[in-house]
Amino acid sequence: MIHKGLDNVYVKESRICFIDGEASKLFYRGYSIDDLAAHSTFEETAYLLIFGRLPTSAQLREFVKKIESYRTLDPRLLRLIASFPASCDAMDALRTAVSALGLFDPDPTTDRLEVRIDKALQILAKAPTIIAAFDRARNHKESIAPQPGLSHAADFLYMLGGKVPDSYDAYVMDVALILHAEHEMNASTFSCTVAASTLADMYSIITTGIATLRGPLHGGANEAALRTVQEVGDPSNAERYVTQALAEKKRIMGFGHRVYKTWDPRYRIVKAIGADLAAKRGQQKLYDTALAIETSALQHLSGAPIFPNVDSYSGVVFHMLGITTDLFTPIFAMSRIAGWSAHSIEYLESNRLIRPKAYYVGPVGLQYVPIEERST
Ligand code: ACO
Repeated sequence: MIHKGLDNVYVKESRICFIDGEASKLFYRGYSIDDLAAHSTFEETAYLLIFGRLPTSAQLREFVKKIESYRTLDPRLLRLIASFPASCDAMDALRTAVSALGLFDPDPTTDRLEVRIDKALQILAKAPTIIAAFDRARNHKESIAPQPGLSHAADFLYMLGGKVPDSYDAYVMDVALILHAEHEMNASTFSCTVAASTLADMYSIITTGIATLRGPLHGGANEAALRTVQEVGDPSNAERYVTQALAEKKRIMGFGHRVYKTWDPRYRIVKAIGADLAAKRGQQKLYDTALAIETSALQHLSGAPIFPNVDSYSGVVFHMLGITTDLFTPIFAMSRIAGWSAHSIEYLESNRLIRPKAYYVGPVGLQYVPIEERST
């Protein structure tokens, strides 16, 4: 039996995330995504995912202090980031810089759980600093040091733009980080789990996750969805775009999901924020175009279990926050480090090397012909 795409294959028991793809529900450690988006913060959610329970006030304070203290980058890493070609993709920059973080850790490998968790927190804390430093360097601007006292979301926007964001922008970014922090055994989490099963260090594990998230069918979909909205340009063009795309067997970005065969619960939250932001920022046309594409796609795809996912509006929201398009996937990654870490650590509680098989269908026993005697 070949499980192409590993659809419906379970690789471990888990207490981290439950997706009910038929009922449009998502839970982190038993808490619904709606409650977490409404009441939690990214820091609290990351604690929940990694430590398995909601923190007390004292635990959260200590956790936040630790994350704050880990945000600063080694000046040698900042110089390395500044040396990246300005034309390079931001995900490539993040992947390379997270990998390089391990070079500046005098002891990157460990078998001890507390140390492994600590390294995960170091990467989680430093990822926004890396992304912001890269974006500033490619725009010929000095990097900005993290500012203690700001939330993870607010500090990222501050390091990116050089100005402490207003509380609404910080709130939007915070919710976006909560929504992207975890999603069960998706492609990037699986690749992190495979790396963890070899007892690789946390830097290698998270680098693997970033590399896997990079593709357009996974993390890159929100960038592609925004580009579609921008190309369509006006709500009146949406119907023509959707009909033509589907006739050409193209995929509508921000639609469909391997697990959700109904609405992605994160989509509802991002869409509501998008509507609010559009009104606040005078970006009604962008939002209305996304809405027109959604309405038309739903009509044409009705009957198929293909519904909008989180990416149908997340790119639109990031764009309205003033974020450059190729930073969307790095932002997804900086949030998902929480989930990747939680799953890798959980898997190592009862590790078994992941080593599936490939069903060989090629020839055997061919005669080796010396190169000078080969005709074709
Ligand atoms: N637009 C149009 N048709 C689609 C779409 C879509 N977005 N998604 C799936 N389909 C169709 C396929 O063409 C296929 O049709 P067919 O049977 O006639 O050939 C059928 O639905 C099944 O497609 P699969 O690829 O087998 O479905 P799968 O479960 O593997 O798809 C995936 C999941 C890869 C996410 C897919 O829906 C897709 O490519 N979506 C667009 C990219 C996207 O939005 N990705 C973000 C996912 S969420 C995240 O990573 C945060």
